[in-house]
Amino acid sequence: MTDDGRVVSGKLQIDEKENVALRPHMLADIVGQMRVRENLRIIIDAAKMRGEPIDHTLFYGPPGLGKTSLAHVIANEMGSNIRITAGPSIERSGDLAAILTHMKPNDILFIDEIHRLGRAVEEILYPAMEDFALDIVIGKGPAAKNVRLKLPRFTVIGATTQLALLAGPLRDRFGARFRLDFYDQESMEYILRRAAGMMRVEIRPEGTSEIARRSRGTPRVALRLLRRVRDFAQTRADGIITGPVAGEALGLMDIDYLGLDDIDRRILRTIIDNYNGGPVGLPTVAASISEDPSTIEDVYEPYLMQLGFLKRTPRGREATSRAYEHLGMVPPRSASGEDDSAGMQRLL
Ligand SMILES: Nc1ncnc2c1ncn2[C@@H]1O[C@H](COP(=O)(O)OP(=O)(O)OP(=O)(O)O)[C@@H](O)[C@H]1O
Ligand SMILES: [Mg+2]
Repeated sequence: MTDDGRVVSGKLQIDEKENVALRPHMLADIVGQMRVRENLRIIIDAAKMRGEPIDHTLFYGPPGLGKTSLAHVIANEMGSNIRITAGPSIERSGDLAAILTHMKPNDILFIDEIHRLGRAVEEILYPAMEDFALDIVIGKGPAAKNVRLKLPRFTVIGATTQLALLAGPLRDRFGARFRLDFYDQESMEYILRRAAGMMRVEIRPEGTSEIARRSRGTPRVALRLLRRVRDFAQTRADGIITGPVAGEALGLMDIDYLGLDDIDRRILRTIIDNYNGGPVGLPTVAASISEDPSTIEDVYEPYLMQLGFLKRTPRGREATSRAYEHLGMVPPRSASGEDDSAGMQRLL
């Protein structure tokens, strides 16, 4: 994944080291994601009772919501070894064949960014997932022979931020599929309190809620903002993160009270100022703010849609009346409202 240099990005930034101690270890440490947690509990307990590995499992959703963490949690709960790789790093089918021949019974193979696997590599993965078999060709030319090697029963856990880019047959081979959603305010506060405790930072309830509210429902963002606010509190205040200290620190980072940064606001302004609120095509928006369309789609838009500020329509992107209001502008009568207000309520 590329670094986009934003403090509110759900993506892991290049020079950023995540504190692995802050990672949840067992299912019970996972806050929020209730549906995912309950379903995993059942799948894991049942598999353990049968003494089998769990079904192949796919996690999808915006960056920084815990896909990698959940893969580790499953391995810990199952007491399995986990082997970690990523779509772009498996270049040739031989690379995957080499990994597969080393799998032991009940092992977990975690494939991050699984939508970026090449076609030839996917072809190897299909029989491996479906029949626990590896088809290889020995020899060349007319003397070449197809040989089928038996593999032990193992589990593939896939993660992707772009489910739509995953080939249908690959998607179908995952017996369990989970969409991760943005976390609500309460879960975010819980994650922050726990992290502050482990980092030995003193934080007041108003400080917690201030950071949580501006963290875009994304744990990775919350943990990053917490580190930045801690630095601010240490150097500009007496080290305690109070509400005003958090507010001032986040204001300095140009993050507004809903967690939007300059680029989010530019996306909305472009649609509103240049295209009358839309609809306007994604490539046009991307070109206007010199961003990559897939980054906009993958990283920025999910949160703007969650807030009810942006709509994806067949004719393009539209800014809603809420977006106008957030930017301090009067919405035209034609601006669409947002019928699903649940997202907004969850975040406020
Ligand atoms: N439910 C949770 N409770 C506490 N912390 C969490 C939770 N989910 C994620 N985190 C924290 O958020 C950070 C990001 O999580 P993780 O790396 O699992 O996200 P991801 O979805 O795999 O992101 P990416 O799409 O970039 O791979 C980690 O540091 C982890 O500690
Ligand atoms: Mg990850």
